[in-house]
Amino acid sequence: MVKKNLYHDTAKYYDFLENKKRISKEVNFLAKHLKKAKVRTILDVGCGTGIYIVGLKKRGFDVEGLDLSESMLKEARKKDPKIKLYQKDMSSFKISKKYDSVICLSSSLASLPNFSLIKKTLKNIFNHLTPNGIFLLDLSNHSMEIEKYNNIPKHISGKIPKGKANFTFLSTKKGNKWKQMWSGEIIRKRKKTKFKELWEELIYSPKKLENSLKKIGFTTLKIYGSLDGEKFSKNKSYHKIYLLKKLK
Ligand SMILES: C[S@@+](CC[C@H](N)C(=O)[O-])C[C@H]1O[C@@H](n2cnc3c(N)ncnc32)[C@H](O)[C@@H]1O
Repeated sequence: MVKKNLYHDTAKYYDFLENKKRISKEVNFLAKHLKKAKVRTILDVGCGTGIYIVGLKKRGFDVEGLDLSESMLKEARKKDPKIKLYQKDMSSFKISKKYDSVICLSSSLASLPNFSLIKKTLKNIFNHLTPNGIFLLDLSNHSMEIEKYNNIPKHISGKIPKGKANFTFLSTKKGNKWKQMWSGEIIRKRKKTKFKELWEELIYSPKKLENSLKKIGFTTLKIYGSLDGEKFSKNKSYHKIYLLKKLK
């Protein structure tokens, strides 16, 4: 079982990083594509705190989520206790039903430590899709991220419910790993709480990933550069989003 990258101590701060307006636009983008493909049931693999499934449920989809992290799932449960959530590893999960769509967002797939586990996960996702099912895979465009952010700290400060937060991100390329150190300080009633979290992504070859998707039986319908529909550009986009379909 993979035990890294699970936000044990920081899940409760994760949503402070998210911009509600941006998420809502992204959910609209997802909903547009999923409705067009007549999707009804969705499984979010690496659903985290549930920011996307909650929005998709409000737009009429029948959603479920899967994540290995108990602390992330706890945050998701607070948002909507009725959504079915599975605490499972994405590379080995087995659910005795199939979905019209699987989504895997914000580079969750790259949290796996090696490419064999990525391939195993892609096959597993394929097996949980109905014929012609849609797979929406959102990954980082590492070449662009590394060029712009390697070893450059980024600071974010802002108000949070009942307090203030200061966050620093420092991303560093080490071999085939993109290591992102997230440190923070939460100030509430003059009390400071400090935390640190290391998020480590595997730097894989996009060609190898695309070949694996094809070999498994996915066809690429479209590639975007952001979850609001921007065109993908190798030298400009921070994300690479694959809209894929399971061949029957
Ligand atoms: C960057 S977060 C993204 C969460 C969510 N998809 C979002 O966009 O907000 C990555 C998520 O992947 C989960 N994760 C990491 N390794 C996993 C694994 N092996 N199986 C299932 N989930 C995993 C983490 O717990 C975390 O919630």
